[in-house]
Amino acid sequence: MIKFPDNFLWGAAASAPQTEGHSLLNGKSETTWDKWFEEKPELFNQGQGPQNTSNVYEMYHEDILNMVNIGMNSYRTSISWARLLPDGTHLNQEAVEFYRSYFQDMLNEGIEPIINLFHFDMPWWLMEKGGWENRQSVDAFAYYAQIAFEQFGDLVHKWTTFNEPMVHIESGYLYGYHYPAIVDFKKAVQVGYHTLLAHVSAVKAFRDSYNDGKIGIILNVSPAYSKSNQAGDLQAKTYSDLLSVKSFLDPAVKGTIPEKLIKLLTDNELSPKVESGDRQLINDNRVDFVGINYYQPRRVQAPINPNKPAKMPEDLFANYDWPDKKINPYRGWEIYPEALYDIALMMRDEYGNIPWYVSENGMGVADEERFMDDGMIDDQYRIDFIKEHLEQLHKGIAAGSNCFGYHMWTFVDCWSWLNGYRNRYGFYRVDLNDHFQRSVKKSGLWFKELTRNNGF
Ligand code: BG6
Repeated sequence: MIKFPDNFLWGAAASAPQTEGHSLLNGKSETTWDKWFEEKPELFNQGQGPQNTSNVYEMYHEDILNMVNIGMNSYRTSISWARLLPDGTHLNQEAVEFYRSYFQDMLNEGIEPIINLFHFDMPWWLMEKGGWENRQSVDAFAYYAQIAFEQFGDLVHKWTTFNEPMVHIESGYLYGYHYPAIVDFKKAVQVGYHTLLAHVSAVKAFRDSYNDGKIGIILNVSPAYSKSNQAGDLQAKTYSDLLSVKSFLDPAVKGTIPEKLIKLLTDNELSPKVESGDRQLINDNRVDFVGINYYQPRRVQAPINPNKPAKMPEDLFANYDWPDKKINPYRGWEIYPEALYDIALMMRDEYGNIPWYVSENGMGVADEERFMDDGMIDDQYRIDFIKEHLEQLHKGIAAGSNCFGYHMWTFVDCWSWLNGYRNRYGFYRVDLNDHFQRSVKKSGLWFKELTRNNGF
């Protein structure tokens, strides 16, 4: 039997925009998702927009009882910035009451809330001023963070600033999956830099608030594996890790931006605008813990005939299609649990063995009703997926890595950006044709056994 450490966090993660619903109600203002859907509904799977996502706004109490029912002891979700501060300045009292009641309910039922501040949901009023391209976004975010700490600091003792900052940068400014769907490497770097400053400014606001909790950041880590040990392939791996892993992990944990990354950006004429004092701010505001979202590795090789200077990341590292890969065909993502062990050792050896947890891991599958058996989704594939990843994680913990928990994406099926409800990830099924009714899947029951035994 594989046993996990005492007090290990078992749970799941989600976000406000993907679960709350009531997106244009109860005083919330629009985000880029609301606006984009209004303008271009055809981009969204089956016209499924952000308005009525899994209705947690009304169903959170029932959901929390369902969490207890499968043995979860912790849950991460986010606060919606546009709900809490609809115009960026004035507090929406209804939002305060909603979140306080939601978090208090979790505490009453023995579920530890881990609360994140930004999960891809840029308020429209700020987007109109340029969003993360505009340095004013840094102060706006720090103000929002300060208000959240004031309003909920008595209930929440684990905070995170951003979920996967690389995703809003890449999806919004390189690959077109998020608004404003711009393709511009230099802008992407500037957006990334402002996001980093917003993160450290929120950490500063947290320290200044004398909150007795801990603060961290959630990063998607896809470690790069090179096609071969030839110099060009190895360099591709170095570039990929610098841009997508170390760019946030180093400043968040060590307080410094890697010199090699600064050189890479300078050599490619991509350096962002910085101000004096930024370095100190980054150095002074490090996290207490890190959440790592792991879904898939990155396979890379040397690019053929790249642009110099680089116009896109693919000029620095090209994708390598590993013939032996195992794939989740619905999402198109490689399944490679071994990377979780490599991540565990990386955290131990390169990041001072800082406390960290797996803040997301999961498997999205389309048309899950195919697997309905006697009224329950028989998602054995998800159970196998979790087991394989937990085995690797356990190996990493046995080797001394300081991992304190494992959260799945996700608890109840939720809405996923342009993919709507196509791929399902939950321990509980959500029935879109029947008032968002929840029903437990086989993986939920398996998870209950896992948490009861603190292992499997
Ligand atoms: C993570 C995000 O990247 O993966 C979630 O934090 C997202 O917001 C999840 O939903 C699963 O990915 P997707 O694109 O299939 O929803």
